[in-house]
Amino acid sequence: MDKLSIEGPVSLQGTIRAGGAKNAALPALAACLLTESRIELTDVPDVRDIRTMLSLLDHLGVDSERSETSLLLQANRDPTAEDAPYDLVKTMRASVLALGPLLARRGHARVSLPGGCAIGVRPIDQHLAGLEALGARVRLEHGYVDARSDRLRGGLFRFSMPSVTGTENLLMAASLALGTTVLENCAREPEIIDLAELLNKMGAQIQGAGEERIEIQGVETLSGATHGIIADRIEAGTYLIGAAITRGDVCIENARPRDLSALLEKLTETGCQIDIDENGLRLRGTGELVSKDVVTAPHPGFPTDLQAQYMALMTQAHGNATVCETVFENRFQHVPELNRMGASIEIDGSFARIHGPSRLSGARVMATDLRASASLVLAGLAAEGTTVVDRIYHLDRGYEAMESKLQALGARVQRISGA
Ligand code: UD1
Repeated sequence: MDKLSIEGPVSLQGTIRAGGAKNAALPALAACLLTESRIELTDVPDVRDIRTMLSLLDHLGVDSERSETSLLLQANRDPTAEDAPYDLVKTMRASVLALGPLLARRGHARVSLPGGCAIGVRPIDQHLAGLEALGARVRLEHGYVDARSDRLRGGLFRFSMPSVTGTENLLMAASLALGTTVLENCAREPEIIDLAELLNKMGAQIQGAGEERIEIQGVETLSGATHGIIADRIEAGTYLIGAAITRGDVCIENARPRDLSALLEKLTETGCQIDIDENGLRLRGTGELVSKDVVTAPHPGFPTDLQAQYMALMTQAHGNATVCETVFENRFQHVPELNRMGASIEIDGSFARIHGPSRLSGARVMATDLRASASLVLAGLAAEGTTVVDRIYHLDRGYEAMESKLQALGARVQRISGA
């Protein structure tokens, strides 16, 4: 398994470009199951989760072709199978995004239940209840969801809690349903707005994406479209925190400030200087870092996907900070590893208390999820000596070319290929 070796400390300096958002590209790929026509996507990041989704789509009869600038997808081949099998779903929970489109267009979907996950239980009950509200008959058997329906019918569904992929699944299903669907208490993440834009280009009639109430007028068929995926706010946020933790000066081209407002506000409070212009964002870590509390929440709150990275930053800030994780119940796996590097963090249920600043020193560390791994890389940039982050296949799931982007900013980072 590959590892990342980081020689610290370093001050990140320079300019990089944020890539396309993995979490916007995944539902966009699933949306190609809604039409036989060709979908052309640009800015799809070349990361492992995307390759997993392409394998799943291949299995479901979708041809894909990557050129230098775009990804072409066409769902007109006879599928080799009708299901999303466990082997694919277990490596990537977002495979559940095949459920809504398969059911809506083919009248039948069989998708493995995602099962346990390193960052919490993460059930899909909301996806299923929403599809049932549109007339689907859902059975759970042999570890699979089996959903069937004649044409789905528009209906009213209120999410018990905002679910990002749940909202996306229902947007796709309702787009081909008969009549009007109203979804309430929807997730409001920018990736949902991006999916709705793609679906509307394909001929769907969706209003209100990005708000709590979304109305979808079902249509008979959807056509092809060309669409550019939005920039990855979590990737951009990770490198901004990288600039802050190393007291650096980094510009991120293409980053979208409006998608990052909760993080930008917090980084400003901690003492970082942030400038926004038409090209993107610049962060300068000049003065002393001050500890500030954070509570994660669905968008527009502070993203859970940046919690681990922010915690690494708080190890370098003066004072005590409390981080409260409200979205997932088991998302502090980076804490013991950060402590091994010299941080002083205590966990109390969904709260973590960080006493800073700590002198971090390089160590061999390992994380069991994507964003926790990113936090260890950031800590490694600020630590004295060599940090080796093990099992970076987690990072490869969601960060495109992380080591070359960090190298472009002056970091001494090497990938060590392992058996
Ligand atoms: C998406 C993101 C992930 C991010 C998360 C929260 C993708 C591919 N992944 O994951 O990076 O961390 O949003 O911003 O976009 N829940 C239920 N029942 C359901 C669905 C969700 O109880 O049917 C709970 C979850 O356990 C969790 C919360 O709702 O506690 C939010 O989960 P959700 O928004 O669904 O996360 P994902 O869509 O899986």
